[in-house]
Amino acid sequence: MKLVFIGPPGVGKGTYANAVREKYGIPHISTGDIFREEVKKGSELGLKVKEYLDKGLLVPDDLVIEVVKKRLQEEDCRKGFILDGFPRTVVQAVALEKFAPPDLVINFVAKPEVIIERVSGRRVCSVCGAIYHVKYMPPKVPGVCDKCGGPLIQRRDDKPEVVRERLKIFEEQFTPIIRFYSEKGRLVTIEANEQADVVIPRILEILKKYF
Ligand code: AP5
Ligand code: ZN
Repeated sequence: MKLVFIGPPGVGKGTYANAVREKYGIPHISTGDIFREEVKKGSELGLKVKEYLDKGLLVPDDLVIEVVKKRLQEEDCRKGFILDGFPRTVVQAVALEKFAPPDLVINFVAKPEVIIERVSGRRVCSVCGAIYHVKYMPPKVPGVCDKCGGPLIQRRDDKPEVVRERLKIFEEQFTPIIRFYSEKGRLVTIEANEQADVVIPRILEILKKYF
């Protein structure tokens, strides 16, 4: 099953993708996670994308497409995958059609105030990348990752001014990309205003028909 998750920053794509990965054993591929990891390593790719991430701007299409194409050729993607954060532009969507057309695209929607609260309370593990929320998904020990004991941090691009830029860019790209997949009859929309324990069963219910 080849899945794509689309939605505004902070709607919960990474959180839901982890749940689907655990249930169905297909890899969760987040372009944002890949880029953050490369920035952390200080690799050539990391150096190229750092400024875009810090400003909340989109990384150039050709660079993102190359990264995703390479990742999807790996062995663990043979049974399928969950793409989170890609495609983000029609150019990326057209490219994906050529090398791995998705079976289903899930469009997550939530109210602006819900999104702002999620982003501002998000904390991530600086070692394993696990996602927490200070109010909705707190770790057992404040500031410490339940999974690996690593310290939790706030993402650099979760500063209010950068979040505003990310939301603006998302709004600009949203309509053309949604139109692209709805014309292909592969789009479902899921409301994601409620807590994750309500939203995740909604996703699994839809996926039951495909697995
Ligand atoms: P990326 O990492 O993809 O960021 P994003 O799309 O803005 O999405 P987020 O990771 O912010 O949010 P999410 O929806 O995954 O929410 P989460 O599960 O964490 O991209 C970052 C940057 O990389 C971009 O700005 C760009 O520069 C670059 N980039 C990446 N892909 C690119 C591409 N294709 N093209 C060009 N550039 C690209 O949840 C948020 C919080 O809410 C967490 O704290 C979580 O615990 C909590 N939460 C989640 N769900 C719920 C719920 N239902 N109820 C309560 N709390 C919840
Ligand atoms: Zn961790």
